[in-house]
Amino acid sequence: MARDSFGSRFGALVALAGSAVGLGNLWRFPYLVGENGGAAFIIIYVLMSFIICLPIFICEFVVGRRSQENAYSAFRDLSGGSGWKYVGVMTVIVPLIVTSYYSVVGGWSVQYLFKAVTFEFTNTETLSAMSTMFSDYVSSPWLPLVGHTIFLLTTAVIVAAGIKGGIEKFSKIMMPLLFVIVLGIAVYSMTLPGAKAGLDYLFNPDFSKIDAKACAAALGQAFFSLSLGFGTIMTYASYVSKKENVMFQSVATAVSDLSFAMVAGIAVMPAVFAFGLNPQSGPGLVFETLPYVFSQMPAGGLVALLFFMALLVAAITSSISMFEVGVAYLVEERHLPRTLACALVFAVCWTFGTLCSLSFGPLADVRLFDRSIFDFFDHLSSNVLMTLGSLLTVLFVGWRLKKTDIYDEFTNSGTLSTNAKIFGVLWVLIRYIAPVAVLSVFVSGLL
Ligand code: PHE
Repeated sequence: MARDSFGSRFGALVALAGSAVGLGNLWRFPYLVGENGGAAFIIIYVLMSFIICLPIFICEFVVGRRSQENAYSAFRDLSGGSGWKYVGVMTVIVPLIVTSYYSVVGGWSVQYLFKAVTFEFTNTETLSAMSTMFSDYVSSPWLPLVGHTIFLLTTAVIVAAGIKGGIEKFSKIMMPLLFVIVLGIAVYSMTLPGAKAGLDYLFNPDFSKIDAKACAAALGQAFFSLSLGFGTIMTYASYVSKKENVMFQSVATAVSDLSFAMVAGIAVMPAVFAFGLNPQSGPGLVFETLPYVFSQMPAGGLVALLFFMALLVAAITSSISMFEVGVAYLVEERHLPRTLACALVFAVCWTFGTLCSLSFGPLADVRLFDRSIFDFFDHLSSNVLMTLGSLLTVLFVGWRLKKTDIYDEFTNSGTLSTNAKIFGVLWVLIRYIAPVAVLSVFVSGLL
């Protein structure tokens, strides 16, 4: 049977952008900007995204499209069956871990969408009541599991429908809708009285706030946001037609990802400042501060509904991309029918996710290296495994594969003249700059 693939250029693009745009943009980016001093952080983030992360993105793309296989087989076959296949094993396992805890936060969005529909925020008068609502919810034993299960099941059903018929179709409808919603909220947020302070915070840099920690946070966020190091871009790229331009698809994904993050920042910050709230509330920004803002603003009920709808859609288009990594492996290497593969990945992620979810309540006392289960998974994958995965991928492409093969894949056998012209610069970034930068962040993160 022929391998499934994306049906069109636009389809591939929205799927890739769908993977990149997720909780990272709407939930993590605004609070990191808040914690790390606003505009200066954004400038560092943009530089990191384009100088370091884009070349790594291209590496993953090249490996995936050259091999036209799942991530494990790609490493094994392109390296001629050497020890690199163990990197392939890692790239298949890590997304399972990430999907598990990602789906817990996805589940919170399901619940908060439900709260928005039932106007639950409108009656909550104070910020501390909103925080209590959130902590009561996440620590309750079974309620978050309902959201987690709905979220993961939706992911599994979309992936089971295939690349063209499931992932591509869903992304084609949802991504444009998502952009319109977030843009609409951003425009509204800018019109609130007092919004200017929020815009100043986003656009007037104060470089005294930038230190090594902020740089590491910016690079970590850029990895996460571009879905690097987990085999997802590799897997999606393996479904992209050989006629497509690697450079175009990669730059377009990075630009969409960055635009979404910026628009999300503009949707969140002015509103937070307009109500005199603290932007540095960390992960609670979206689930505590924002619902309070919604409860206070005119037409806030509708804005809350749209916002949590956007959050949910963004999270699903990302989780399907992680889910697909394991499914592709099971289908191609273990010859399982697609539906059974989806059921298996669902079972694994559901089990780990349940442990993560319970770690806010009944399992709060279980500590792994002094962290709760959720924090441990989050820290391990975003600070260690993701960076390690990216480092190994860029070393694989820069030092193990043949330069002529990369050139061939990047320029569509020499037919793309612009790509041919910039290949020299790209090669230096891939071989030297990116590995050194990633290594330094990795080591500083471990220390
Ligand atoms: N990029 C996604 C986000 O911003 C998260 C993600 C990471 C998705 C890794 C796939 C792989 O939320």
